[in-house]
Amino acid sequence: MSEQKSVAIVGSTGSVGTQSIQVIADDQENYRVTALAAGRSVDQLVSQALAIQPDLVAISDEALLGQVRDALPSSIEVVGGTGGLIECAQRADVTINGVVGFAGLPVTLACLEAGKRLALANKESLIAAGPVVQQARKTPGAELVPVDSEHAAIHQCLRANDVGKRVSKIQVTASGGPFRGMSSEELARVTIAEALNHPTWSMGPKITIDSSTLMNKGLEVIEANELFGKPAGDSGFDLTLDDIEVVVHPQSVVHSMVTYSDGSTIAQLSMPDMRLPIAYALSFPDRFPVAYGAIDWTSLGRLDFEGPDRESFPCLDLAYAAARTGGTAPAWLSAANEVAVEAFLKEKIRWVDIAEVNSAVLSMHDGGTGDTLAGVLDGDQLARRRAEEILQEQSFMRNS
Ligand SMILES: NC(=O)c1ccc[n+]([C@@H]2O[C@H](COP(=O)([O-])OP(=O)(O)OC[C@H]3O[C@@H](n4cnc5c(N)ncnc54)[C@H](OP(=O)(O)O)[C@@H]3O)[C@@H](O)[C@H]2O)c1
Repeated sequence: MSEQKSVAIVGSTGSVGTQSIQVIADDQENYRVTALAAGRSVDQLVSQALAIQPDLVAISDEALLGQVRDALPSSIEVVGGTGGLIECAQRADVTINGVVGFAGLPVTLACLEAGKRLALANKESLIAAGPVVQQARKTPGAELVPVDSEHAAIHQCLRANDVGKRVSKIQVTASGGPFRGMSSEELARVTIAEALNHPTWSMGPKITIDSSTLMNKGLEVIEANELFGKPAGDSGFDLTLDDIEVVVHPQSVVHSMVTYSDGSTIAQLSMPDMRLPIAYALSFPDRFPVAYGAIDWTSLGRLDFEGPDRESFPCLDLAYAAARTGGTAPAWLSAANEVAVEAFLKEKIRWVDIAEVNSAVLSMHDGGTGDTLAGVLDGDQLARRRAEEILQEQSFMRNS
């Protein structure tokens, strides 16, 4: 690589964000962190900034701007609010979007509209605003490289075919989460601590709960459809939603697969380590010089595969249904899910109620098309209101 690239890490205090800092520390010759941004974690953001000395620091909650400014030297510019996050995404060569939830949308759009590379972990922005993000991807110079390990795997597997076409199926793998194999009766009694205890990945709380309900896999199916299916337009492969399958693979070593028209399946394998897809999104089309999650084949043991339990984990099919409906339906589902997961984490509802809330909100979808940013923002707000109303219903209240 010839020139050092500047990198903005938005969501730097989270699981993806902190691992991104580690990756860049491993190749300082080629990358420099020039911007850091977070939501509300002032102390962690400040200590990251003091250690890294970026040019720019942003805090999303503007009420905390003064605290961050006071703690940092004047050589570091400090900005606040959504505008601050946008500035981070516009200035660097590459932006890693590690924000959780719909709040990541301005970062996704700002980076693509500035014609820069987006290393996207924040799947919710692509899922909620598919058509708007597809438009932004057409900006000259804009490039979206996925950080989600499954989509990074698919991205790599698709490179196995120079012609580009002739892809017949994508297999998105799922660990199955901590509740794989449990009956409906057992699932009705699971606790927050059990749901947060992911068998193979250590991640932030929202995605960990999503993994336990298979909502994460459902969102990833929508994400794969946006990235590699028909919505991606001319650059996309000739794939429909039905060509995207979910395969449960408890070891999380095969991160996803692509099957070609001649029956060949190409898979990407590595031990579960998010630093690898982060490094891939930074270095593509080159390869990162440091190895993460390389497999010791002599001790790997076995790799198991099975179909998902769609009955006990209904969130998966809710995602297929939302993607089939299109328009703002995925935004509605994702917004409802954010509200439901937060309620679960605050002990307001049971784990099984998450799917109930998501299903109820999706059934109220108003047919919005989501072609404009305003339409997406309206859809998100409306779905959140519907979810809150449903949560007020007595049947959902815990211990009622
Ligand atoms: N963790 C993984 O291994 C993994 C794997 C694949 C995909 N992903 C995706 O990556 C994204 C991040 O996941 P995570 O596990 O890293 O989450 P996380 O650990 O909860 O971190 C979330 C980050 O987002 C920031 N944030 C929250 N609200 C914000 C706002 N309104 N404005 C700006 N920043 C805000 C948080 O800042 P504060 O600390 O200040 O609140 C934090 O830095 C999610 O979309 C997830 O689905 C994660």
